[in-house]
Amino acid sequence: MKSLNNDKIKEKDVIILAIESSCDETAAAVIKNGREIMSNIVSTQIEIHKKFGGVVPEVASRNHVVDINPVIENALLAAKIKLEDVDVIAATYGPGLVGALLVGLSTAKALSYATGKPFVGVNHIQGHIAANYLAFPELKPPFISLIVSGGHTHIVEVKDYNEIEIIGKTRDDAAGEAYDKVARAIGLGYPGGPLVDELAKEGSPNIEFPKAMYKEDNYDFSFSGIKSSVLNYINNKKMKGQTYSNADIAASFQHAVVDILIHKTIKAVKDRGYDCVVLSGGVSANSALRKNMEKRCKEDKLDIYYPPLGLCTDNAAMIGSCAYYRYIDGYVDDMYLNAKPNLKIGEN
Ligand code: KG4
Ligand code: ZN
Repeated sequence: MKSLNNDKIKEKDVIILAIESSCDETAAAVIKNGREIMSNIVSTQIEIHKKFGGVVPEVASRNHVVDINPVIENALLAAKIKLEDVDVIAATYGPGLVGALLVGLSTAKALSYATGKPFVGVNHIQGHIAANYLAFPELKPPFISLIVSGGHTHIVEVKDYNEIEIIGKTRDDAAGEAYDKVARAIGLGYPGGPLVDELAKEGSPNIEFPKAMYKEDNYDFSFSGIKSSVLNYINNKKMKGQTYSNADIAASFQHAVVDILIHKTIKAVKDRGYDCVVLSGGVSANSALRKNMEKRCKEDKLDIYYPPLGLCTDNAAMIGSCAYYRYIDGYVDDMYLNAKPNLKIGEN
């Protein structure tokens, strides 16, 4: 990574072509000045992975190879621009599945090399936070964000666009992972989160599942215990020959998870003296998390921000927004930037 003199950059519009391929969505977007979506194309592989009950990494990589060029062409077409009009090429370089990441990253580096345009590598998780910049023009750091996705559950202090401190995280499973595992246990398909969310609306939260670490004076989480409790509950019922309601299990599981996510996030916001909550990541699409966090924020007179549904789950628009703030701070990457499957938040 090298630093540019960025005084000139800030004086003109910056158009970024961004690429995302960290998991099972092949995506490209064109973003103006980090805040305006000129186009946002997502080709999802959900139908392909559904029959396996989860993402098969090698299958994901192969499908990214098939989709990447048409998705980029569509993003440029939808933005009504040509590649020549783009100022910067950006791509996610981690965290994610290595084979999947390499497809988007290599394509972006090839485009950058061929056109001579600067290349910026983006941390996918920081991209999730940036989804909020696209939806809320007034939102600026500093703030506290709860990042909840398939692979991550973190509470972070976003001190500036490129300065993020992790203040809490899950000690085991991510919230989205727990959703997906519970979905499997009650016979729902993939991806489990949205299906558990829907089924929970038909049930009542009448089963006590544990809220691990609720009372601990920190911002950390643990979701592996609740997943095991759900499995034990089902096995117990089966062994006793008793019936049980999948909808009640979904509602009770969701109630416990959402409760702890809200409790720890509000604690962080208050302890650090902030006045708003920013949600990000795939699980921020969850209806109960959005509704209950909104209610809690209203009671506590805090502002709340969460992206529209299409920007919660993986997309390239958020990568373009994040890339803009890296670029105007003077960061560009060279052709040696490699995929980093375990890239941490704040590590660039
Ligand atoms: O951020 P994301 O699209 O991908 C990662 O970076 O991991 O998040 C995907 C995760 C999956 O675990 C999925 O089940 C979960 O987000 N998810 C949901 C909902 N929509 C997506 N979880 C709960 N409720 C939802 N409505
Ligand atoms: Zn994601």
